Amino acid sequence: MPLTHKKNSDAQNIPQNIQQNDKAFSGLKQSPANRFKNGAFPDVRMRRNRQTTWSRNLVRENALMTDDLIWPLFVIEGHDNEESIKTMPDVKRYTIDRIVKQVKAAQTLHIPAIALFPAIDQSKKNAMGTEAFNPDNLVCRAIKEIKNACPDIGIIADVALDPYTNHGHDGLMDGNTILNDETLDVLCQQAMVQAQAGVDIIAPSDMMDGRIGAIREVLDSQNFQDIQIISYAAKYASSFYGPFRDAVCSGSLLTGDKKTYQMDPANSNEALREVSLDIQEGADMIMIKPGLPYLDIIHRVKAEFKMPTLAYNVSGEYAMIKIAAEHGALNYDQAMMEMLLCFKRAGADGILSYAALDAARKICDS
Ligand code: PBG
Repeated sequence: MPLTHKKNSDAQNIPQNIQQNDKAFSGLKQSPANRFKNGAFPDVRMRRNRQTTWSRNLVRENALMTDDLIWPLFVIEGHDNEESIKTMPDVKRYTIDRIVKQVKAAQTLHIPAIALFPAIDQSKKNAMGTEAFNPDNLVCRAIKEIKNACPDIGIIADVALDPYTNHGHDGLMDGNTILNDETLDVLCQQAMVQAQAGVDIIAPSDMMDGRIGAIREVLDSQNFQDIQIISYAAKYASSFYGPFRDAVCSGSLLTGDKKTYQMDPANSNEALREVSLDIQEGADMIMIKPGLPYLDIIHRVKAEFKMPTLAYNVSGEYAMIKIAAEHGALNYDQAMMEMLLCFKRAGADGILSYAALDAARKICDS
């Protein structure tokens, strides 16, 4: 017998309804008296709340807001110029004057912060990454000009040596070994020049041990105690960074891989240890990277530490969606908005995404 079920529209009809329900439920061996206790079909119909747009909006658990977005931007030398990045369609490298225009657009759309990544000339790269702590380097000049033109948007700068080294690694090398403690000194100098240029947030992405504490100490000793630190606490040795390495022109230089300092994608408890250490060392916010294949890590970290938790929706994740959409496999806007919302559901408070401007436009238009 089919499970037809009539709604109980009139109290006086109860006996009749019970009769009908009796029939309907005879197959399930449920008595009318206890059927409401079961919390099951057909009394419970999950689809009821999904019938209309207003009802779906009412019961929605998470929402993506422009306040959640951080927009990463690639900066190059020169004037009034921009370059395409082959593996990241529609993402550009901009000269500082053009970056300022982009940042103004982001500010108009209420994006709270941008993150800067330099693509410097190969001639300025060396084994020590010395350009990283040149107070007049590309990133420092970009920070100053953006701060000047857009004082109300947060500026995040990466601290790591890979855009500056001729071997593409985030730290100093001795043979094939990435040196930890020696690298810390350079990272501290890099953080200092960015602080002096007016950066709001320092974001060490290098995964050396002890760098959050070392940078915090140096900043505090120079009266920069109010500069925030976002720790890339759980950053994995991932193949999803490929397009980024094209964007900062470090990929072709990279010798070997980053597995001796970035985390093993197989590990999850280790991420909690990393995060806990960085919190002890003074991190103000925690970043998980990459994002999409690591939503479980975002969820665990948020549940365990209840810290401001950010997700990096990395270059490879952007490229997957963008290039799939270009080939007609999916709709870019829809897939991108879904992807960003899912970071919120997983527990992220904020998301760095190359799609931030696209998403902010959609949110503001809706
Ligand atoms: C460098 C850095 C990387 C990214 C951000 N900072 C690459 C890497 O660690 O090799 C990747 C971001 C992306 O893929 O979008 N320390």
